[in-house]
Amino acid sequence: SPAMAEARERTFLAIKPDGVQRRLIGEIISRFEQKGFKLVASKMVHASEELLEEHYAEHKGKGFFPKLIAYMSSGPVFAMVWEGTEVIRTCRTMMGATKPLESAPGTIRGDYAIDMGRNIIHGSDSVESAEREISLWFSDDKEIINWECASNSWI
Ligand code: PPS
Repeated sequence: SPAMAEARERTFLAIKPDGVQRRLIGEIISRFEQKGFKLVASKMVHASEELLEEHYAEHKGKGFFPKLIAYMSSGPVFAMVWEGTEVIRTCRTMMGATKPLESAPGTIRGDYAIDMGRNIIHGSDSVESAEREISLWFSDDKEIINWECASNSWI
């Protein structure tokens, strides 16, 4: 049904190397769990420059691109797939704006980031980018788990 399809929307989130090094993985997972979203895949990845260049392909050629790739490959990231109604837009809201001066208190970046290039977390910005990023970082049949439990009916 259309309602089911909507509820199964998925997004790709990655806690960046600064978030991992600052021990924020648990805090960040808690926020999305408590919101009511479902974690369906996760892993620690020390990403290659090749993977990151593919991930950020749309930004190739921009001034910050080499720095962005160097930063993102400087240590492990914690990659995740989350599922739920309007999960893509809601996670973007919970992450906060890219620019530190614009990220509101209460958001992840608003609460934890002050530098433009060190903003803790990445999240897909559309259905198309979510599908592309999920298939780039995860193998669907092995690493993404479709799970259900009774408590789903409460949230
Ligand atoms: S743009 O040009 O408006 O499309 O760029 P933007 O969406 O703001 O940012 C694209 C991603 O690049 C990151 N970014 C930076 N990283 C390091 N240094 C600088 N100066 C910088 N500027 C932008 C930004 O956080 C975005 O990454 P993600 O992972 O998508 O948040």
